[in-house]
Amino acid sequence: MSSTTAQIRLVSSHPEVYEPCDDSFALVDALLADRAHLLEQHPTLCMEVGCGSGYVITSLALILGKEAPGVHYIATDINPHAIRVTRETLEAHGVHAELINTNIASGLDSRLKGLIDVMVVNPPYVPTREDEVGAEGIASSWAGGENGRSVIDRILPIADNLLSEKGWLYLVTLTANNPSEICLEMRKKGYGARIVVQRSTEEESLHIIKFWRDFDSVDAKEMLTASKSASWSL
Ligand SMILES: C[S@@+](CC[C@H](N)C(=O)[O-])C[C@H]1O[C@@H](n2cnc3c(N)ncnc32)[C@H](O)[C@@H]1O
Repeated sequence: MSSTTAQIRLVSSHPEVYEPCDDSFALVDALLADRAHLLEQHPTLCMEVGCGSGYVITSLALILGKEAPGVHYIATDINPHAIRVTRETLEAHGVHAELINTNIASGLDSRLKGLIDVMVVNPPYVPTREDEVGAEGIASSWAGGENGRSVIDRILPIADNLLSEKGWLYLVTLTANNPSEICLEMRKKGYGARIVVQRSTEEESLHIIKFWRDFDSVDAKEMLTASKSASWSL
């Protein structure tokens, strides 16, 4: 069994790009812990939103490796330096991903709608003033606005739109982000949720939450019924 992840010494860097940190490692640990399920899911399209140094998307490509041939990897980042650094990190590990410099998944909705089998996100989640969100430079890596939720709350509906029926979302959150409220929001969209990794450091308590479409949930049933009656009434 291969359980390789990206090697820190091969991860490229830039002063304006987020370096792999506890949150990045926790996310990769969650993917490693779920490797067998990921392989059983037979993903064809995997996507990272906010790839930074490329540590996570490179690790995902290595974790799935040769046992998941034909997987196409896509990574976006709003920071153009991150795209360049991610390209170098991928190349240093001999793996490939399509890299797109965009805001979350802007411009990709029609191409990727309902097609992403695995989405991984380590978003800017630190509670900050709202005007720090999306600021120039490295600050946009962590500045999450009120309760650290500004970017997360924009990502969730986009993830819902892009995920395939069997799609999974792995999201890094902080206690201050109110993870149970995030799960409730996703529940309303018909998703089940589970904490795959929980890690406390001196400064923060991180949760890696996995979301999946839960077709048995009451909300999902109601949604399906509503969409069926909507199409019948057309
Ligand atoms: C906490 S860092 C995580 C970087 C990397 N994924 C990791 O785990 O080490 C968040 C990343 O999201 C990017 N980002 C912030 N806002 C974004 C947005 N609206 N669209 C795309 N990427 C964004 C930042 O540039 C940064 O690279």
